Amino acid sequence: MFKQLDSAASTGEVTIWLEGHSHRVPNTLSVAAALLWLEGAAGYRRHVDGSNRAPLCMMGVCHECLITVDGEPNRQGCLVPVAEGMRIERQWRAL
Ligand code: FES
Repeated sequence: MFKQLDSAASTGEVTIWLEGHSHRVPNTLSVAAALLWLEGAAGYRRHVDGSNRAPLCMMGVCHECLITVDGEPNRQGCLVPVAEGMRIERQWRAL
């Protein structure tokens, strides 16, 4: 579905913590892109009815990428670049 542009090629990696588990990801990704890269769309978040939700626009419009970053809920994952040591928690239910 998504393809990384050559101009966005990684210059390195950072370690992010997803629900307590460390992962090395390219340092050019947003939080949303990193989770899609790690686990695909089905692992991103769920609606209150249990259906899967996933980032859609990847440019700050749809709000389908809401996620908790470093303890702050409802961040738009598509607009937040990954950073070394970042702690990410999926929001399994809409807040
Ligand atoms: S994916 Fe649409 S606002 Fe983030």
